[in-house]
Amino acid sequence: MIETYLMNYEKALQHNIFKIISQSAKEIRVDCYVIGGFVRDFILKRGDAKDIDVVAIGDGIKLAKQVAKNLPTKPKVQVFKTYGTAMLRYDDIEIEFVGARKESYSEDSRNPKVENGTLEDDQNRRDFTINALALNLNVSSYGDLLDPFNGVEDLEKQIIRTPLTPDITYSDDPLRMMRAIRFATQLNFTIERESLHAITKNSHRIKIITKERIVTELNKILESKKPSIGFLLLEKTGLLDYIMPELTALKGIDEVDGQRHKDNFYHTLEVVDNISKNTNNLWLRWAALLHDIGKAPTKRFSKKVGWTFHGHEFEGSKMVYHLFKRLKMPLNDKMKFVQKMVFMSSRPIVLAQDIVTDSAVRRLVFDAGDYVDDLMTLCEADITTKNPKKFHKYHNNFKIVREKIIEVEARDHIRNFQPPITGEEIMTTFNIKPSREIGLIKDVIKEAILEGDIPNEYEAAYRLMIKEGKRLGLKAINKND
Ligand code: CTP
Repeated sequence: MIETYLMNYEKALQHNIFKIISQSAKEIRVDCYVIGGFVRDFILKRGDAKDIDVVAIGDGIKLAKQVAKNLPTKPKVQVFKTYGTAMLRYDDIEIEFVGARKESYSEDSRNPKVENGTLEDDQNRRDFTINALALNLNVSSYGDLLDPFNGVEDLEKQIIRTPLTPDITYSDDPLRMMRAIRFATQLNFTIERESLHAITKNSHRIKIITKERIVTELNKILESKKPSIGFLLLEKTGLLDYIMPELTALKGIDEVDGQRHKDNFYHTLEVVDNISKNTNNLWLRWAALLHDIGKAPTKRFSKKVGWTFHGHEFEGSKMVYHLFKRLKMPLNDKMKFVQKMVFMSSRPIVLAQDIVTDSAVRRLVFDAGDYVDDLMTLCEADITTKNPKKFHKYHNNFKIVREKIIEVEARDHIRNFQPPITGEEIMTTFNIKPSREIGLIKDVIKEAILEGDIPNEYEAAYRLMIKEGKRLGLKAINKND
């Protein structure tokens, strides 16, 4: 519970930057205010904000230049002429200046027609009441809070509400639909009913928003403590259908001959929440979100075995590429990491359902390489069974797998496996040119190590090479010849 009636707003303005902005504004005779996220986060005690938004009743760019002149560091002012904004950095803080605006939007674009306005105009055009709070920086009423839409009350009640009719706010700038859901997730707030209604009604307008901005919001939802809050809202409002139909395709339970499969959408959200308790790695969280997307296109029913999703991991990893591409996400090592996690996502659980053998663990480490720990984290999060016996058994087996990984690693050095015998050595040993036999011998050695038939050591591998070469009809040259 936040006790706003006791709040001393001047405390928010302790950093010397505010005094300098206030003084600079006085010099060029404009009024100015700190507005938006900085004020919200101060009241919510969300830690020191590194972004400050300042609104000037007049020329924001001129104010920014005046502030830069008065700062001891004389920072560079970055001017964005088209938006009428300017930005400077001071003491690790990014300060953005904007002139108060009155905006009107057209149907087919996010880019508004902008006119100069009053502080009230500016507060009116903001997305949420909790983001329209302003602190006065003018010398005469320094530190006064301006809260025309009862934003503080909404912070107390934990509600996301728009200053204007929601239909106007969301239709003006459809990105705000994502922002509403993102704030609801980050802050664990409720989106007010009318707003939720308007988001549902306007969900199709998300199409005019660039993919990059959508992904920024998705990432923030995924980085939250409980991402399922956001994904449930995205689904409920219809937004998810436009953004990631691969996920909504997982919804639903089919029943044939009395046999049902689980709802893979809700299961996925449980996995994402589970993993979020154990890792802050955004890409591992993405992997959790996408780990089952291959299940929709691979779902089959047969009388003999019931529901199957054969090959969903491979299908899913291919879908990851298309999804990343469509959302204009990076097609780099992060994407490959997510693909690999999705592709291998069933491996450890298969292992954990059975008796955990050394060779199975060795193969897992061999295939997952450096990612084996991340894979284990994903797969442990994937245990959502409501059967306590199974839950206990799987977790217990995963503990054994983890212990065995360490044991096998210490002994066999399988991670980033380097064959103890090189192709070069095979060629000189048998005096042969590059050929199929080299690959065959290398494979036999690798398999023997993974199976645990020989240790991952040169001498043992050498002996096996000689034996295997003989079997293939090759003749070893005596080393001493
Ligand atoms: N804003 C808005 N509509 C948008 C984006 C932003 O009205 N689509 C306004 C809000 O008043 C917001 C301010 O601009 O508080 C600053 O936006 P931004 O820096 O994106 O968000 P913050 O509220 O500061 O929150 P965060 O830093 O968590 O993104």
